[in-house]
Amino acid sequence: MNNTSDKPFYVITPIYYVNAKPHIGHAYTTIAADCVARYQRLLGKEVFFSVGTDEHGMNIEKKAEEAGKSPEVFVDEIALIFKDLWAKLNISYSKFIRTTDPEHKEAVQKVLQDFYDRKIIYKGFYEGLYCTGCEQFKVRSDLVDGKCVDHNRAPEIMKEETYLMKMTELQPELIRKIENDELEVRTEKYKKEILSFLKNEKLEDISISRKNVSWGIPLPFDDTHTTYVWLDAFLNYLTVLGWNGDREKVPREWPADVQFLGKDILRVHATIWPVMLLHLGFPLPKLLFTHGHILSCGRKMSKTIGNTISADLMIEKFGVDGTRYLLMSAGTFGEDVDLTMERMTEKYNADLANGLGNLLSRSIKLSEKLTTNNLPLTTNAKYPEELKKLIEEYCFAEILQFVWKKIAEANRYIDETKPWELVKADQPEFEKVMRKLLEDIALVASWIEPFMPETTKKIQKALQERKTDSLFERIKA
Ligand code: MSP
Repeated sequence: MNNTSDKPFYVITPIYYVNAKPHIGHAYTTIAADCVARYQRLLGKEVFFSVGTDEHGMNIEKKAEEAGKSPEVFVDEIALIFKDLWAKLNISYSKFIRTTDPEHKEAVQKVLQDFYDRKIIYKGFYEGLYCTGCEQFKVRSDLVDGKCVDHNRAPEIMKEETYLMKMTELQPELIRKIENDELEVRTEKYKKEILSFLKNEKLEDISISRKNVSWGIPLPFDDTHTTYVWLDAFLNYLTVLGWNGDREKVPREWPADVQFLGKDILRVHATIWPVMLLHLGFPLPKLLFTHGHILSCGRKMSKTIGNTISADLMIEKFGVDGTRYLLMSAGTFGEDVDLTMERMTEKYNADLANGLGNLLSRSIKLSEKLTTNNLPLTTNAKYPEELKKLIEEYCFAEILQFVWKKIAEANRYIDETKPWELVKADQPEFEKVMRKLLEDIALVASWIEPFMPETTKKIQKALQERKTDSLFERIKA
């Protein structure tokens, strides 16, 4: 992370399709980005944190029709469900953008017109493979048995008159920028993957318009075509900042410090998106941090497969902070993680109800017996270097492991020192033990703040009032 300039720290999530309700795969990226935004704010940085919904395209048009609704009504309903979920999950975003927002649409048209005027976009013919599930072009080597791996169906052959955006001529520059980390792609394996793609396949000029999709932004220079949904969607990362499409004006927050995205959308983010930025003459995002998928029964959790766990169900069972904790501690962020409700319940009981919950309820109850008020309460503890490094490398699960080690140590300390016996027998020793315990709890509370902000507040309040809260019997936000 680069904290040296006065530029706000800009953290980005992808914008989600509104073809179905959100599941925990969507919550996963958004919570991770929220933890980063909160951490940066704790460091005193000004932060811009963008979220939103991707609302145009053939897929959504079809889903609305199946639901017997107009696309406008359909997208309004689902966008609201996403918004509500982010509110429930305590997502501290700066702005929620929708690609159907009029300001966004105007800016997209302005960019298209500019690209057309500068011959970056030109009329032509496109023939290629296209998966409507991904809304992405495919090359033969992407397919297994002729099918898209994520959607388990053969892509369509697209053959139509279209407008194309120049890509090929920028391929060498793109490779160079990824190689020298001007556009950093993490983790290392994803960087290798994208470089291998770029070195082995010719980057074709890309079709950026559709003649037979009406649910989209019309091209300003030919309204018989609508804009390809990814081109429209990528520009949200700029329009969310209030940018109106004028390439003379780079928004103050740009470039993004980190863009989070799932591995299924790395290819488009590391090709179409940077090429658009190069055409605009804008700097590239500093980092594309690519995460693995949440799997269920070994397959990517997705509405299409029908193996989803809803975020609402998790919140109901584990509370808001419980859900945030379980998702962020599930596994290394760049790797796939397989989740089941059973395993999450076990982890909830072990780490939260027993680990943290026990430590808090025992210690705070014992602290009622203290006769002194002179206690060390660290409300804004500095992160130890080790923890800082992990956060800044986006190793979320590893940070939580570090904190939970401390919790286990503190629980062992209570078992070994038996403060309930010291209360009567050895007051000075009791005080010493309690000081250490409460100090450790205060530290833990401040370390988990980006991950479990409400729990932090409750612990700090309990430490001040020295009263247990039913929260600590069963942690729920
Ligand atoms: N609308 C596009 C993104 C446009 S960004 C300019 C899109 N939407 S999506 O809703 O299909 O997926 C959005 C993000 O959610 C992607 O990063 C994707 O990887 C992530 N996830 C969807 N299912 C997921 C899991 N099962 N696990 C982890 N992340 C998941 O693509």
